[in-house]
Amino acid sequence: MTPGMAVENDNTVMALEAQMYQKGVKHLCDNGLNKLPSKYVLPNSDRPDAYKSAHLDVPVALELPVIDFSQLYGPNRRYVLRSLTKACEEYGFFQIINHGISNDVISNMREVCSKFFELPYEERAKYMSSDMHATVRYGTSFNQNKDNVYCWRDFLKLTCNPNLHELLSGWPSSPSGFKDSASTYAEETQGLFLSLVEAILESLAGDMEKDENLLNEFERGSQLMVVNCYPQCPEPELTLGMPPHSDYGFLTLLLQDQVEGLQIHYQQKWVTVQPLPNSFVVNIGDHLEIFSNGRYKSVLHRVVVNAKKARMSVATLHSLPFDSTIKPWPKLVNEQNPRLYKDTDFGIFLDYITSCEPKRKNFLDSRKIIY
Ligand code: OGA
Ligand code: NI
Repeated sequence: MTPGMAVENDNTVMALEAQMYQKGVKHLCDNGLNKLPSKYVLPNSDRPDAYKSAHLDVPVALELPVIDFSQLYGPNRRYVLRSLTKACEEYGFFQIINHGISNDVISNMREVCSKFFELPYEERAKYMSSDMHATVRYGTSFNQNKDNVYCWRDFLKLTCNPNLHELLSGWPSSPSGFKDSASTYAEETQGLFLSLVEAILESLAGDMEKDENLLNEFERGSQLMVVNCYPQCPEPELTLGMPPHSDYGFLTLLLQDQVEGLQIHYQQKWVTVQPLPNSFVVNIGDHLEIFSNGRYKSVLHRVVVNAKKARMSVATLHSLPFDSTIKPWPKLVNEQNPRLYKDTDFGIFLDYITSCEPKRKNFLDSRKIIY
């Protein structure tokens, strides 16, 4: 064989492999795997335990502040609002219990999502799209078109609101019951978001006076749902399920399994969030950091994967309508507190993430005003 032929064969193998990785991690695992392909191997400095080897006292497990949602509607509202403020300022994350979404709604959602990822690859592939604007999008990694190293994650992304009932016709029709369970879940999480946002506005303003116009805008707001599937990984210490990122919206509600995986950047360390049964993890997104003029923090987080257990999560990302301008709440800006962020909107965000590798929290940085 001449050297030229060897190169050609190498190229063919690489092209075939590249096609394989485009099909996602689930597909890769279903074909049997005992070693992590190089496409998923992160450089040393980005690996999950890079910090651990440098600083032996980490990582630590973190019990996020717990907010009892039902207490918001009783005599303890003021006290709960204070805990909420503290959680948003210090962690950018909290967990809510007694949130009022029934076990049935949640277990139906979990069931149809696992069944979706169990479908034959060809069925899931119907929803693949490289268009970031697509309202239904199945894919792999974080930013499939841009990532050099892939993440150990497949996902299904659905735009839910505004206009859930119109969007629903494009959602997966298989497995049976998917549309029903997922749309009920979308409605219930949207309702929960609206109650949370009301509490958050009250906590920021420090008074009970409702801004009805703003609340109405949230009612017409945007909602995206991302179902994340992290299969068992043969060498979890070399890769990540999701790289460090912050979420773009106002709030994210995350339903996770009782399997550890989510880590947040807290006091310069990566700490693992201890899953709490029957709860949602809630985190502040970039829009709320901007809206609160920097008081509530949109915190970096990432996902580590696991050799023993697959993990699934459902994130719903909620914000104002897609065409709204996001800016610091005028109530919070005055001479002593000048505005710290430029106006932004969903279009600016999409342009930003399609033009660069969203590796760090750089979108929000790009909106900061430096005095
Ligand atoms: C997200 C996210 C965390 C997880 O979807 O933005 O951060 O545990 N998910 O899946
Ligand atoms: Ni996130």
